[in-house]
Amino acid sequence: MERAKRKLEHIEYALATGQSRLHGFDDIVFVHNSLPDVSTTQINLATQIGELSLSSPIFINAMTGGGGEATLKINEQLAYVAKQCGLAMAVGSQMAALNDERERASFAVIRQVNRDGIIFANLGSEATVEQAKRAIDMIEANALQIHLNVVQELVMPEGDRDFSKALRRIEQIVRGVEVPVIVKEVGFGMSKETAAKLANVGVIAVDVGGFGGTNFARIENERRARRLAYFERWGMSTTVSIAEIAQTVPNVSIIGSGGIQNALDVAKAIALGASAVGMAGYVLRLLVEEGIEKLMEEITLLHEDLTLIMTALGAKTIAKLQRVPLVIRGETHHWLHERGID
Ligand code: FNR
Repeated sequence: MERAKRKLEHIEYALATGQSRLHGFDDIVFVHNSLPDVSTTQINLATQIGELSLSSPIFINAMTGGGGEATLKINEQLAYVAKQCGLAMAVGSQMAALNDERERASFAVIRQVNRDGIIFANLGSEATVEQAKRAIDMIEANALQIHLNVVQELVMPEGDRDFSKALRRIEQIVRGVEVPVIVKEVGFGMSKETAAKLANVGVIAVDVGGFGGTNFARIENERRARRLAYFERWGMSTTVSIAEIAQTVPNVSIIGSGGIQNALDVAKAIALGASAVGMAGYVLRLLVEEGIEKLMEEITLLHEDLTLIMTALGAKTIAKLQRVPLVIRGETHHWLHERGID
């Protein structure tokens, strides 16, 4: 029951702490194109993450499951929204559900609601190959996300303290399962060094989970007596994470995430090099505070706005959007310069 309580607290504190918008997107400016030579009807939002084909570059990122009735209801609604809006969707960590039959319903419902959609399974890097296979089978997943959340665990009083051999286990999972493996962060960002190691063991995509949106150090600090305040500003922003991986690690797809809230954020993440963009906290807030109809309306508008932005830039496809000219200024520019990437 401790774990179920934690899942509900994560939702409650994620909503309470909100999204900081420190993700760095204000540093990214598109070069205006007065002759885009394209019509809105020619814009195609389809994309690829490795071998996975998605009809939209936007997907609902991993959040919840296994916390009883409340999380079952949220997952059922998210799955319905994903189906109606044609979005891929990741489930929250399935670790508890592997050992507890009762926890499984809130995951199974996602596949029941969305029979033919693209769904990602989700486990931590402590998982074995056998656990990964069971998590994939549980929801007939099209891909597996493995989350890396060292700082979150360290701030969590009951969290893990031993992070040895995670890369080795990830490599074994990549070899042992039949679906593509995506490795993700949870709001602390990802460096080019980490991405290169993951690409070298066969991970098809890294989800940067950048700093600047949902802040799990703040969320976990709400749950403990002595705050570890130094972790609340810890991490690499979403823009620097995407940019440094895109410019130095060619053999991996990039998923941009961490604080994505509107179509301009989506377009900028893709223009920096992402193939797809995950949204978690913003989607959760709309669903819980404004309702399912409002969430679906908002996603329709996101697609409409992205189409308009791509038209203005003369980018008919996501592949073309990845190559439009842009200027990087401010802290993102400074970071890339210091890291020798400019
Ligand atoms: C998460 N996130 C998450 N990630 C993961 O891999 N497994 C999980 O179980 C969860 N659980 C979870 C619960 C809640 C309530 C939230 C808000 C988020 C992290 C999520 O997928 C994402 O990486 C971060 O939230 C950063 O993205 P946003 O929220 O800034 O768009």
